[in-house]
Amino acid sequence: MIQIYPDYEQLSLAAAKCFVEESQKAIAKHGRFSVVLSGGHTPQHTYEILAQPPFKEEVSWQQTHVFWGDERCVPPEDSLSNIHMAKQALLNHIPIPASNIHPMQGNLNLQAAAQSYEKEIQQFFHGQKPQFDLIFLGLGDNGHTASLFPFLPALHETQKWVAAVYVAEQDMHRLTMTVSLLNQGRKIVFLVSGSEKASIFSRMLDGAYDPDALPAQLIRPVDGELLWLVDQDAATLCKTCREYPHATKSSL
Ligand code: 6PG
Repeated sequence: MIQIYPDYEQLSLAAAKCFVEESQKAIAKHGRFSVVLSGGHTPQHTYEILAQPPFKEEVSWQQTHVFWGDERCVPPEDSLSNIHMAKQALLNHIPIPASNIHPMQGNLNLQAAAQSYEKEIQQFFHGQKPQFDLIFLGLGDNGHTASLFPFLPALHETQKWVAAVYVAEQDMHRLTMTVSLLNQGRKIVFLVSGSEKASIFSRMLDGAYDPDALPAQLIRPVDGELLWLVDQDAATLCKTCREYPHATKSSL
């Protein structure tokens, strides 16, 4: 499913509405809402919208648990940190219990941090299938998502749920949820905005299946839903968006 919005503002509003709706469904169904946040710039305005009325009051933050799909291995107060961005845009402005915030420890020993995050997820799901209610993902201009970058061995990890990776093109160590964990999600939502993403978005949807080069193509929910929320600038080259009815042009 692809939903195309006129601009970044409308896209961000749609993503915030999705967050509220999925939280209400999850809490009604099983008493809590587990969400995986994405890093980068695209989701930032969505988080800011959720931190303000009316959306702020529409989420039961006491029953909401926040995780991250990936983290850069920098101190948590570093401006490059995904938790830092989420705190600035959302978490510092809402009544969410500190115990409901589950950050990746990007500033520790990497392998230990990956293992401890996996253990935290196992405990959260009481050893059951790790089905996050909502997973937000972004799309990098080289086809990466979370910190699953092209040609990384971690793309083919089938046992671990969290991997430590080294991203040579950024000379950066990162932690990332693996494909097998992400694909357990009940609802996986990509947020893609801007003309600089038009080419990669078109390659993703119109081009051949080439997951080593385009890791975001590996995201295929096992029994959940995949939704692309994109703005018109990002969708401008996408032939799939023009040819199939499921690509709806929406405006709130
Ligand atoms: C990260 C993100 C990453 C991001 C894409 C898109 O930590 O960098 O998780 O996967 O979603 O790089 O980033 P932008 O939204 O900034 O374009």
